[in-house]
This record gives sequence, C-alpha cells and structure tokens, in this order.
Amino acid sequence: MRADGKGALPPYFNIDPDQAQTLLGASATTADFQHIAQACASGRADLASRGLEQTGARELRLFSTWEITRYLIPVATGHFRRVLKQNPDLPQGRSETQGGAKWFTLDEVLRLRAFFGSEGSKAKEYLPYRPAGQNAKLVAVANFKGGVGKTSTAAHLAMSAALDGYKVLVIDLDSQGSMTSIFGGSVEDEWQTVFPLIARHYASHLRGENQRRLDRGEAPTPLDDTLSDALEIRAPDLIQSTHWPNIDLIGAQLNLYWAEFQIPVWRMAARGWKLWDALTDSLAQDGLLDRYDIIFLDTPPALGYLTINGLAAADILLVPLGASFLEFDSTGRFFDMLHATFGSIEEAENLAARALGRDGLAFEWDAVRAVVTRYDGTQQAELAALMQAYLGPTLSPHRQDFTALIGQAGEQVQGIYEADYRDFNRETYVRGRETFDATYAAFKQLLVGAWRQDELAAQQAAE
Ligand SMILES: Nc1ncnc2c1ncn2[C@@H]1O[C@H](COP(=O)(O)OP(=O)(O)OP(=O)(O)O)[C@@H](O)[C@H]1O
Ligand SMILES: [Mg+2]
Repeated sequence: MRADGKGALPPYFNIDPDQAQTLLGASATTADFQHIAQACASGRADLASRGLEQTGARELRLFSTWEITRYLIPVATGHFRRVLKQNPDLPQGRSETQGGAKWFTLDEVLRLRAFFGSEGSKAKEYLPYRPAGQNAKLVAVANFKGGVGKTSTAAHLAMSAALDGYKVLVIDLDSQGSMTSIFGGSVEDEWQTVFPLIARHYASHLRGENQRRLDRGEAPTPLDDTLSDALEIRAPDLIQSTHWPNIDLIGAQLNLYWAEFQIPVWRMAARGWKLWDALTDSLAQDGLLDRYDIIFLDTPPALGYLTINGLAAADILLVPLGASFLEFDSTGRFFDMLHATFGSIEEAENLAARALGRDGLAFEWDAVRAVVTRYDGTQQAELAALMQAYLGPTLSPHRQDFTALIGQAGEQVQGIYEADYRDFNRETYVRGRETFDATYAAFKQLLVGAWRQDELAAQQAAE
C-alpha cells in the first residue's frame, strides 16, 4: 500500500521495453572506462580541494594519565604522578585547563615506559617480551573472502602492539590500499610498494642463473630496465613513517596489482625461481627482522601471488571470518585452496630436491588461527559455538565483537585506538576497547609462545 492509500505494484512490474531500451543509452566501449576514470579523477580533485581527502598529514591524539595507567603502563596513578614529580626531566604532559588532566603524546608515553622499564620494579611487565637474538615475527592476515575484517584486524593489532611498546612495521599487500590510507601513507606508484623487492629477488636469481650460463659457455639472459632498477632498491627505501611513532609502513596502491601479472611471467621464464621466498628473503637481507619486533602483512581478498608471498613469509597466520554460514563456508574453501596451493609448490620442489639429493621443502607456520570478527552474541552464538566445535583450537576462543565505534570513527580517526574516549560514553568506549584488547591478548599469546619456542630451540642447539 502506498502512503496515499492507493495500492501500487512493486517497481519491477510493468517495465516498458521501449522506454527501457531508450534509457539504456549507447553501449559501452573500452574508451568509456577512460571517461569514467577521468570523471572520478575530477570529482576526487574537487573533494580534495574541499578538504575531504582521506590521506594527508595525520596527527595522533594525546593520551591521558587515566588511559596511560589503566591501559599502557601498569602502575598506580598516584605512583605514576609521584615518579613524574621526582624526575622533572621526564615528560610532564600538558593540561587543557588549570589543574586538569595531564595529556601526553605517544612518543612521551614510550619514553615514560622505557624509564619505568629501566628504573621500575623488575616484577612488572613494563617492556613487552621479545627474547634477545630472535627475529621479528611476521603476521599475515588473510582470507579470500572480502570484507571479513582483515584490514581492521591487522590495523588494530598493529596499533595495540605499538601501544604495548613493540616496534611495528605494516606491509600493505592489497592494491586497494586500505591499510595505507589508515596509516596516512602516500604511494606514487608500484616502485614505492613491495613490488621492487620481489623484482629484486627475481633479478638476483637471474644473475645467479646467468653466471651458470656463462660457466657453461652459453649467452646470459639480459636484465631489462625494471630488473636492473630493482637491484638498486632496499626495503628501507620503501618504508614510510606514520603518525604513530613506532609504526612504519610499506604502502600499496592500485599499480601493485601489476605484480599479479608480472610474477607469473617471470616464473615462466625461470622455473627455478622460488617466488614464494621473495618477500621473506628480501626483508631478511635488508635487516628488517632485527629492526622491528612485529611485521604485519595485510593481504587482498584473493589467493594471488602477493598473498602467497605474504603467507609464505608469515610465522603466524590469522584468518578472520564472521560467524555466518556464508563466511564459514567460504573460509573452509579458502583452507582447501591453501592446501592445494602450498601442497603443489612443495610437491614440485620435493620432486626436484629428491632428484638432486637435496633437502625437501615443507612450509611451516608457528600458528594458524581463524578469528571470529564482527561478532553479535545475540544473533550468532549458536553458529559460533558450532564453528568452535568443528574447528577446535584452530578457531581462536576470543570473538571480536561487532562494535559501532569502528563504523563511527571519522575520516581522521581510524579505529578504536585512535579515538578519543571523551567522544564516547565511557561505558561504550570501555566495552569496545575491551573486545579489541582481547583480540590483541589472544594474538600476543601466540606471539610470546612462538618466540619462547624459538628461544628454547636456540638454547638447545647451543648445548
Ligand atoms: N569488529 C567490528 N565491528 C564493526 N565493524 C567492523 C568490525 N570489523 C570490521 N568492521 C567493518 O567491516 C568492514 C570490512 O572490514 P575490513 O575492511 O577490515 O575487511 P577486509 O577483510 O579487509 O576487506 P577486503 O576484503 O576488502 O580487504 C569495514 O567497514 C569495517 O569498518
Ligand atoms: Mg582489507
């Protein structure tokens, strides 16, 4: 019934074919894509000129004494204030009103944490655990299903790890560049993404091959400009700092998608190139595994070559999914695809290895966990319990609640850790924050366990 009381058919009845044909307009050609792209570019420039651009210099908010002593440095507020008073050289914070709460930058919080770490009680965890001499842990967040919370989870984990005192690198492997815009990165083209690292890995392989050709008296394969240029690039050349003092970024933008076409072409030209090792080897060669504590890899919703590289590089693999039938179903198929993909790489390598009497290849991850995201306990409890029953320990026991705070966070504020709690009802804030803190805690449990395992193995090897 219409508001005026007259019954009306739903809009899909009685469509007039002639009128529809007129409205259809001319058919589209490839050139039209260019016109549409131009229209978008003009619109984008207009929006940017009105200050609606997403990227651009971003500033991290300040942290209050309440937040610092409740969430960041485990000391009583009174003690915290006394220590600051006794040490006038330490950051003293600033207040908006006379005698009001004191606020600190994250840089200052990190200095305070370092001070408590060196001067304070050894019984307290002022500095987060990382065993000496062990490499950074790489964490990939992946699922070929789109929109399941990969980027949100990776970004929140990166921020909570940074607040916890870790030095974090975030690598965006998704040409959509969402992670890059969360961290305010600016990326001109594929040369400021991981692309040159992968190209360099291939170029080094070719150079090795060429040496062998020369030794056999054969002509070497020439390296094209792309490969020669890539040989000059090191990972630190690609790293941008962000508005978070202890989070750095290797960004992405649309051109990174080119890698999905280029990598298989290179692989066809050199079957011996271990493309899945490209990222791991480059990051290790360029010293990033010493320089950072944790490296997060955000991947696109596809199992392409970039995702394979990210997954092969990872020590810990997190697979976010919602507690819905569709997401559970397609996540199952994602694991099927992982099995087929990595299984076939191993099989081919092991065939070659056996022929040459070398050690085979077996991919290994410290931990693989599915993580329920956007969980609504009132609607999804039954499905989540069923998923838990089938997946057992592979499903992280902590479910990340749906929280309106994420959707609400504005253009300049990305996620719960960047939001100022004064903008929300304190209860709402505490609940929203708790769910992401618990997501981090579940992840940190894996991280600490994996590092400890490495530390024990190193000790055993030394005995
Ligand atoms: N815990 C949460 N509560 C509420 N909304 C959430 C939560 N996690 C993610 N979202 C929202 O869900 C949407 C998809 O999230 P996100 O971009 O992280 O998914 P994705 O898997 O990275 O997507 P893509 O496959 O496109 O890369 C976003 O709008 C995000 O704000
Ligand atoms: Mg994403």
